[in-house]
Amino acid sequence: MLKDEVLALLKGQEDPRSGEEMSRTLGVSRAAVWKAIAALREEGYEIASAPNRGYLLKNAPDRLSAGELAGALEGCVIGRELICLEEVDSTNSAVKRRAVEGTPEGLAIVAECQTGGRGRRGRTFLSPAGKGIYCSVLLRPKAELRELLWITAWTGVAVCDAIETVCGIRPGIKWTNDIILGHKKVCGILTELGMEGESAQSQYVVPGIGINISQTPEDFGPEVAQVATSLTQELGWTPRRADVTAALLKALDRMNADFPHEKARYLEQYRKDCVNLGQPVRVLSPDGAWEGTAMAIDEDFQLVVRRTDGRLETVSAGEVSVRGLLGYV
Ligand code: BTN
Repeated sequence: MLKDEVLALLKGQEDPRSGEEMSRTLGVSRAAVWKAIAALREEGYEIASAPNRGYLLKNAPDRLSAGELAGALEGCVIGRELICLEEVDSTNSAVKRRAVEGTPEGLAIVAECQTGGRGRRGRTFLSPAGKGIYCSVLLRPKAELRELLWITAWTGVAVCDAIETVCGIRPGIKWTNDIILGHKKVCGILTELGMEGESAQSQYVVPGIGINISQTPEDFGPEVAQVATSLTQELGWTPRRADVTAALLKALDRMNADFPHEKARYLEQYRKDCVNLGQPVRVLSPDGAWEGTAMAIDEDFQLVVRRTDGRLETVSAGEVSVRGLLGYV
């Protein structure tokens, strides 16, 4: 959209940019540039205009738009097709629909709100408008199934990298896919995989990330507020969603380029970030619940737990869920 392109030109500029120069750069009329400026103002962008000097962006609302994000993603594979929606059922479902149509890797879909946000094990993921980041990307890695199962853990490291870049504080990871701040969940990851039945070749992988940005305990409700938090609650200030999303897409781009050969870095970082190690845990498996102490993350990002009878057991994310015995973590 033209207004996204105009916004991208205005962003990061200290001096006014002339309408004529923008119209030449974008190959459109000056009237079209003026209309785009009016549309941006309508959305809450404060754009000063001085006769003969041009337009200067003074203040920007925290919107997730291509104009806000595209500049940060130059040269990236992730986000080379970037779709920013006001509302969608689920960004994961939207990316999967495009994946089966043959869309190349790199598509990123971001939404202001989700009406059917999904979590692991068929749970819903609350996705209120303007308070969080709901984002999914399309990957088509060439790797063995065993390696594809690492992607949720790698995505966890990428999310921590992004939050640390923008907020200056590194969250932890509750095995396998919950991102933790202040002992509560600030982000969830749902990775979905499409396989060809005959060849067992992967067709697509879609990691979906939901980050709580500005929810209050009241937004969550009394039950969820015991285990969920937001960046605002933990930091005492609200980071711009656009900045966190740009950092996230860049971290996912790096992850995609690194996968799977840079395993050593991701494994080392995951082990550092994992908050379960050394902690008592309850393992919820289809055969029933049992308890032990989380001891290690193995080479496949699986959790090694010492059972109360002393036996070591390796648990994989597909089969179990892990709860801390001392509170949520
Ligand atoms: C979980 O905590 O169980 C995973 C939550 C994953 C939520 C994200 S929000 C963006 C993407 N779209 C979805 O429907 N789910 C993921």
